[in-house]
This record gives sequence, C-alpha cells and structure tokens, in this order.
Amino acid sequence: MDAALIPSSGGQIPRHIAIIMDGNGRWAKSRFLPRTAGHHAGVSSVRKVIEYCGSAGVEVLTLFAFSSENWRRPQQEVSVLMGLFLSTLEKEAEKLHKKNVRLRVIGDRSAFAVELQAQIAAVESMTLANTGLNLVIAANYGGRWEITQAVRRVACRVAGGVLAPEAITTEILAANLDLADLPEPDLFIRTGGEKRISNFLLWQLAYTELYFTDTLWPDFDESALEIALKDYSGRQRRFGYTGEQVETLSVNSGLR
Ligand code: FPP
Repeated sequence: MDAALIPSSGGQIPRHIAIIMDGNGRWAKSRFLPRTAGHHAGVSSVRKVIEYCGSAGVEVLTLFAFSSENWRRPQQEVSVLMGLFLSTLEKEAEKLHKKNVRLRVIGDRSAFAVELQAQIAAVESMTLANTGLNLVIAANYGGRWEITQAVRRVACRVAGGVLAPEAITTEILAANLDLADLPEPDLFIRTGGEKRISNFLLWQLAYTELYFTDTLWPDFDESALEIALKDYSGRQRRFGYTGEQVETLSVNSGLR
C-alpha cells in the first residue's frame, strides 16, 4: 500500500482537523445568559484552537461557523452571529496574517451582507500566499450543497462536450469540491454532546476518525484538544485494509 494512504496512524498529529463547534447556547443558558453570550465566549475557544493547531504543525483546521440551516434561528441570533463573524475577521486579520495563517471561507457567501463579503475577500487575498496553517471557515455551508456545486461544474463540462458521462470518476468529482487542494480531514471533532455530522464535509469525512465530546464549545481549550489528539493517536486507520495489513505496511514504510 502507498504510505500516503496511511497518513496519520500510529500517534501522529493529524494533518487536517475539522470541528463542529457546538454547545454555545447551552453554555450560556447554564449561566442564565442570553444564547448570544455563548457565541461571544465561543470566539475565545476559536482563538485557542487556531493558536494550538498553528504551533503543533497541523496543516488544515476547518471550523463549522454557520450552517445553511442556521438561518432558521431567531433573527436576532442570526444577526449577532453575522456581526461576530465580521468583527472577529476585522479584529483578527492582521494577527492571523502575522502568524502566517492562510484563511479561506467555504459556503455560499452570496447570502451575506456586502460588507461581510468584502471583508472575507480582503482577508482571503491578504493571506493568500501564507504557508502556515490553512484556516477554513465553513459559513452558510452544507455538505450536500458543496457536492451539488461540484456536480454542476462537472455537468457543465459534459454539456460542453469535453467530458463523457462514463469518464466521470470519484477523482474528477473530488477535484471539483471546494477543498480539493487540501488533504481530507484526519480527525473530526464535535463538541456539545450530539453525535451527528450535520451536513458537514459529507464527501471529505468518508475515512475521517470521528471524536465526540460532551464539552461545550466555550469550554473547549488546549487541554480538551490534547485529549482529542491523544484519543486520535491511539486509533488505527485502515482505509479498507485489515489491521494486520496496516501493521505490516506501517513497519515497512517506516511509519512506526
Ligand atoms: C453552535 O452552538 C454554534 C454555532 C451555530 C456558531 C458557532 C460560532 C462561533 C463559535 C463564533 C463565531 C465563529 C467565528 C469563526 C468567528 P449552538 O448555538 O447550537 O449551541 P446549543 O446546541 O447549545 O444551542
């Protein structure tokens, strides 16, 4: 087996961590605060996790900030979340840039206020050439939406006569997804106790190790992340092979 197919088994740091940051509302409620106070507190966990991943040599961190279904929330909460997204980008852009972080946003940004769209574009272009942590913010994002977009792009090539339907492969579809140039997530973390994927990175999570914790997002700090990383490091990733095959191949490829 190609050593690249066993990228992170045997105690390594994941190349790509994808996180559903859940539990802000409950964190606030337990303190008799409005739900939005939980989102504000959640921003400091975002900061801690970015710092940690940047220093630990993680290549990609993808954070689910706002799903395409989150528009259903009370109007006031949606507007606080949008405001928080904008003000955090404004406040943190320079710091991210100095830390060599490259930011990109995936999702349908056309639904956002013009000011927010402009700020996203500005930070993306400022950090475009950075070579450190790739920070991906999924905003107005849904996994089914992303796959649908990719199918549309491929369908255009078929309609244009440059691609035969029978020539469509999983690789072609994958190449048309938003994160095509980045490794797929090795570790998925969901805080807040729910055990769901919730339409996040549906295609890319096919072989990802899933980790669920009851810790609410505002309480998720460096030590909580270390616990998740420790759990991950004990997993054996098999990608369809048997445990014995992976053992042999890991030894032969010098991965352990
Ligand atoms: C889920 O908690 C959290 C969200 C829908 C928003 C996440 C946003 C942040 C952490 C802050 C902004 C992020 C960035 C990147 C600037 P919930 O409200 O569903 O909590 P609950 O399940 O306890 O109700």
